Amino acid sequence: MKITNICCIGAGYVGGPTMAVIAEKCPHIKVTVVDLNEARIAAWNDEDVNNIPIYEPGLNEIVAKARGRNLFFSTEVDKAIDEAELIFISVNTPTKTYGTGKGMAADLKYIELCARQIARVAKTDKIIVEKSTLPVRTAEAIKSILNNTGNGVQFQILSNPEFLAEGTAVQDLLHPDRVLIGGETSPEGQEAIETLVDVYAHWVPRERILKTNVWSSELSKLTANAFLAQRVSSINAISELCEKTEANVNEVAKAIGMDSRIGPKFLKASVGFGGSCFQKDILNLVYISKAFGLHEVADYWEQVIIMNDHQKRRFSKNIVQTLYNTVSGKKITFLGWAFKKDTNDTRESAAIYVADDLINEQANIALYDPKVGHKQVLSDLNYLETRQPAENEKYIKTFDDPYQACENAHAIAILTEWDEFKAYDWKKIYDSMLKPAFVFDGRNLLDPAEMRAIGFVYQSIGS
Ligand code: NAD
Ligand code: UGA
Repeated sequence: MKITNICCIGAGYVGGPTMAVIAEKCPHIKVTVVDLNEARIAAWNDEDVNNIPIYEPGLNEIVAKARGRNLFFSTEVDKAIDEAELIFISVNTPTKTYGTGKGMAADLKYIELCARQIARVAKTDKIIVEKSTLPVRTAEAIKSILNNTGNGVQFQILSNPEFLAEGTAVQDLLHPDRVLIGGETSPEGQEAIETLVDVYAHWVPRERILKTNVWSSELSKLTANAFLAQRVSSINAISELCEKTEANVNEVAKAIGMDSRIGPKFLKASVGFGGSCFQKDILNLVYISKAFGLHEVADYWEQVIIMNDHQKRRFSKNIVQTLYNTVSGKKITFLGWAFKKDTNDTRESAAIYVADDLINEQANIALYDPKVGHKQVLSDLNYLETRQPAENEKYIKTFDDPYQACENAHAIAILTEWDEFKAYDWKKIYDSMLKPAFVFDGRNLLDPAEMRAIGFVYQSIGS
């Protein structure tokens, strides 16, 4: 099948950047990204390309180039489905908050709604691509819906999980380590795989495009995230041991990372991993394993989450203990709220949980993040439902200027590894704080010797 028209359902952190890159690299294909969220689509269409809803380095340039040429953002879902030969499903798949599997299983209601909508609208044969991260064997459910409620139209379902990381999404999409495409082993399935391969081959070397069966593809995505998260929890577990033994976690990470079998990436000890996917995907893996009666497998992966929760908790506990066992009425400045640098995404950010713990201890939190505003911070805290929204509002204040945020603070906590924090005039910050001036560096971002030379009582993770 020759592709001239692509539709992507879901204009989020995956759908938006992924389709922008496909449109940029395939100017002969019309790419329409649709979403039910009118405000989000309006922001994607904002005249000023700096106002698009997702902050990713380099994304606005690509959108500026392709938007209106062959890249379109729209709320007309039916129309885009009808016109497309290839439909990506890139909607959210959060952890279920109700019923069976609550707190563990992936909530597939948005996926099912998409499948039903496609079945209702499609009049010509289509290839449906699972771009969202899904439990293994979801393609079967999608296929059943499409084949039983459709109007005689032929559908092929492919799994094409996305491996981009936020903050580096554009580079990850332009130069992926691999593109994974899973499809049926039938001739029709193989033909559908080749059709999608041809789209990616416009910029990805063919040897990096991996073809598997659908189930391997679905499971590989969950496995990749589980392995990555496990590395962070592993080094974080060692960080606590380092603190007891005068070993330094950065030195340990370097030493083990030079072993080519281990490798140097993803060994940065931190206040804990965040983001919308690691926790949700591991919980999903745990749930699936339990469903098959594989309790040892489930327990093994669940420990990655348990360790991560412990790492966040012990960071806030240490702040309270170090500040003479009370932070009540004290000003604690947070530098960073996003779950990592170079993104405005705050989902599951460790900062939210640390703030929640400290507000329980009646600390006053002053906050600065270069890309996250007051409304988002409050919404993240309110989502936890620990206390009334008005209470949260009382305890948290956001600033546009980091120096103001730090003035008269008892302590600073670094929660996100934004590069700009390294360039601050730390002497000026020190002079404006109450003494002793504490810094709790949750990202091991600053130079301990320099910070101590200025006069700070400086603590980092794992040393
Ligand atoms: P997101 O919440 O940012 O975006 C999803 C969008 O889908 C929302 O804008 C929502 O309004 C829209 N939507 C939901 N149901 C819809 C429907 N029926 N019709 C039209 N629009 C609908 O989520 P995201 O971060 O882009 O993640 C999407 C999927 O990709 C998830 O499965 C996630 O696990 C996976 N993933 C995410 C990342 C990441 O870095 N965020 C990376 C790889 C994979
Ligand atoms: C992660 C994966 O890296 C992507 O491959 C995957 O596509 C994506 O999840 C997804 O499925 O959503 P992302 O969550 O965007 O990407 O960002 P990461 O760079 O993986 O960071 C996740 C968290 O781990 C962040 O909070 C980060 O600060 C933390 N981290 C990462 C560490 O604490 N230490 C490290 O060494 C690396």
